[in-house]
Amino acid sequence: MKALLLCGGEGTRLRPFTHTQPKALLPLGHQPILFHILDTLAATTIREVIIIIGPNGKPITELLRRTNPWGFDFTFVDQPVPLGLAHTVLLARETLGNTPFLMYLGDNLLDEPLRPLVNRFVCEKPDALLLLRRVKNPRHFGIARINGQNVIQVEEKPEHAQSNLALVGVYLFSPAIHQAVQAINPSPRGELEITDAIQQLITTGKNVTYHLLSGWWKDTGTIADFLAANQYLMKKLAPGVDGEVKKSTVKGVLRIAPGSTLKNCQVLGPVTVGTGCRISGSTLGPYLAVNDGAEIVDCNLSRTLVLANAHLKGVTLTNSIIGERVQINAQQKTAAARSLLVGADAVLEL
Ligand code: G1P
Repeated sequence: MKALLLCGGEGTRLRPFTHTQPKALLPLGHQPILFHILDTLAATTIREVIIIIGPNGKPITELLRRTNPWGFDFTFVDQPVPLGLAHTVLLARETLGNTPFLMYLGDNLLDEPLRPLVNRFVCEKPDALLLLRRVKNPRHFGIARINGQNVIQVEEKPEHAQSNLALVGVYLFSPAIHQAVQAINPSPRGELEITDAIQQLITTGKNVTYHLLSGWWKDTGTIADFLAANQYLMKKLAPGVDGEVKKSTVKGVLRIAPGSTLKNCQVLGPVTVGTGCRISGSTLGPYLAVNDGAEIVDCNLSRTLVLANAHLKGVTLTNSIIGERVQINAQQKTAAARSLLVGADAVLEL
């Protein structure tokens, strides 16, 4: 089996951060979303990964050409215009050949191994195996109706949902999906919907089955979900103090990469610090992820992501995302926490 990983979206709901980097490369905990997904795929038998890249996706190609600890065989396919999830199947048609494949939406994270599902798909050979999960807000998702082991109807974000079973952004398909994709028309929003292609499989009598997910799942499409995913993933952070920690107290899990120093700090983990960071006089955590090259002085930061090369002085932040190379300088240290979303290269004097 191959994997088709969709990283072509513009990530409009994650602006301003997606103005300067593709959504797939935004960090969660100690690594980009994309790496969390590739870790999940690496635990299956899949070795060939086709990645759909949007107009801002060049950094993804460059990064994976340099870094491939999973030993995947990557192919990159451009999607210049976002014409829908099913459109990516058309674009990757040649590369996919007649092999069954696992389609994975690049903003979805799940805490369940995919290997048993891939094995089940290979054994039972249905035309589609969908991952479903019960949700409270079915209008925000593709929704499935089931009967026994069969999926009998799917609908994209219905106004009046007839079930609360959402389509998780992970699908396993036989080559029958190619005909289905050819047969559908763009939806009212002008996109070729994968949900319509699945409905086409059902209508033409193909075998569409499902697996009901019970564990954690997050579509990280919005800022709130993104911060929630960060906290969930950081709960599982493995400790590793490879940097220098001086005159500091550490409670809970701390991960600090080589080449970083932490001095006169109070750490309440989970906290992760990338390489080349200098941090002093600060209270850190819980759920703080600091990326490479950041400098932090006299701050109090919790439930926050600090992206690469940001410089912060004298701020108290919670539930915040601070973009790459941002500079924040507070003249007077305030105790009350602010929640800030600051896009790359901004300079703030507070
Ligand atoms: C997409 C799919 C939807 C699915 C969801 C899962 O929606 O169209 O069927 O339920 O992903 O994350 P999007 O998040 O792109 O609006």
